[in-house]
Amino acid sequence: MVKIAPSILSADFANLARSVAMVERAGADYLHIDVMDGHFVPNITIGPLVVRALRPHSKMFFDVHLMIENPDRYLADFVQAGADLICVHAEACTHLHRCVSQIKEMGIKAGVSLNPHTPLEALEYVLPMLDLVLIMTVNPGFGGQKFIPEVVPKIESLSRMIQERGLSVEIEVDGGINKETAGQVARAGAGVLVAGSAIFRADDPAQAMEDIRRAAER
Ligand code: DX5
Ligand code: ZN
Repeated sequence: MVKIAPSILSADFANLARSVAMVERAGADYLHIDVMDGHFVPNITIGPLVVRALRPHSKMFFDVHLMIENPDRYLADFVQAGADLICVHAEACTHLHRCVSQIKEMGIKAGVSLNPHTPLEALEYVLPMLDLVLIMTVNPGFGGQKFIPEVVPKIESLSRMIQERGLSVEIEVDGGINKETAGQVARAGAGVLVAGSAIFRADDPAQAMEDIRRAAER
C-alpha cells in the first residue's frame, strides 16, 4: 500500500491549519512541507516557525523537504519545531554524510533528495544510514510542474539497489504526481507519493487523494 503525502505548497496559506486538517481527515499518511530559500531554488516559502505553528494542529508525520543551501545550519530549528523527518538535497550538502549523521543524532528520520539530473551514485556511501530517498520528478522550486518521465528508470534502479543490499529505505517521489502518473512511479518502486496541486487544487481533495492511491495500486 502506497503512502500519500500532500504537499502544503499548494494549500491555502491563509488557512493552513484548515487545509492540513482536511487532508488528515481524508487519510493522508505524511504531511509534506516544502522549505525553499530563494538560493538553492528560485522561490521562497516557509521556515521553522510555520512548522512549529502547525505542529499542535496535526498528528500526521511531518515530512520536511529542505530545498535550501547549507541545511546544516537549520536542522536543529526544524527538529525543535516538530519535524519527524528531514530530507536534504545531495546537491546542497558539501558534507552530506555529516549532515545525515546530524539529523539521525537528533533522533528523527533522515532523507536525501536527488534532483532529476543527479545520478544515484551520490547515495552510494550514505544509503545504509537513510530512512528515505526522495527522487524529484520535477526540477524543484514550484508546484504544478510537469512530471519528468526520464526519471522513472532511476526509481527502478534505486529500488533494485535497496533490495540487493537488504535495506529498508522508503522511496518517495515528488513533482507532477497525479492520477495519471501515480501508476508508473508506484510500479517502478516508489512507496511514498507527494502531491501538491493534484490534491489541494482539486474541487474535492479527499477524492483526489483516493484517485491517486487507487491509480498507484492498479
Ligand atoms: C517542488 C516541491 C513539491 C511540490 C510538488 O519543488 O518539492 O513538493 O509541492 O507540487 P506538485 O505536486 O504540484 O508537482
Ligand atoms: Zn517537496
